[in-house]
Amino acid sequence: MQETAWQVSLVLMSLIAFGVVYVAINSGKREEDYGPLVKSAYGFRTKLFWTVALLFFPAMIYNLVGLPLPYSESRADSKLGPAQVINVIGHMWYWEMDRDEVKVGEPVEIRITSADVNHGFGIYDTNLLLVAQAQAMPHYTNVIYHTFKKEGTYRVLCMEYCGVAHHNMMTEIKVGKS
Ligand code: CUA
Repeated sequence: MQETAWQVSLVLMSLIAFGVVYVAINSGKREEDYGPLVKSAYGFRTKLFWTVALLFFPAMIYNLVGLPLPYSESRADSKLGPAQVINVIGHMWYWEMDRDEVKVGEPVEIRITSADVNHGFGIYDTNLLLVAQAQAMPHYTNVIYHTFKKEGTYRVLCMEYCGVAHHNMMTEIKVGKS
């Protein structure tokens, strides 16, 4: 997945680079009559603006209706009893956790901080859907509560760019019966 994303961005970056070089090479040439060209370009620009605006606005609304995430919990609304605690420290570029196994159906209190820069602590289920997240910040501890409803191996990924090996910042939480 990340390999594919990297390859796609490489192709796109190359296309942009080619575009820039093409324009630079051709910018010296002069055309005779600009008038009609300018007119059609402005017309195209107006159409493009409205197309983008009309496409993006519904897309934006569509992307926002799902929020907040249905799995989100707070201390207040989950009526937590004693919780299973995981202490998390983000490092460039790995996660340090004092526990990586929890019980299904019982609340988990996750205390998250960072030893260096800001990281994003994101927990993903087996379908790689985000179930809970918080920032890992130096000199501060963010606390989130989450009750895992299904057993399985959940993945923890870093959600905030934190340097060259950001994409390798992964670990797992095993959710089981005992
Ligand atoms: Cu840590 Cu990105």
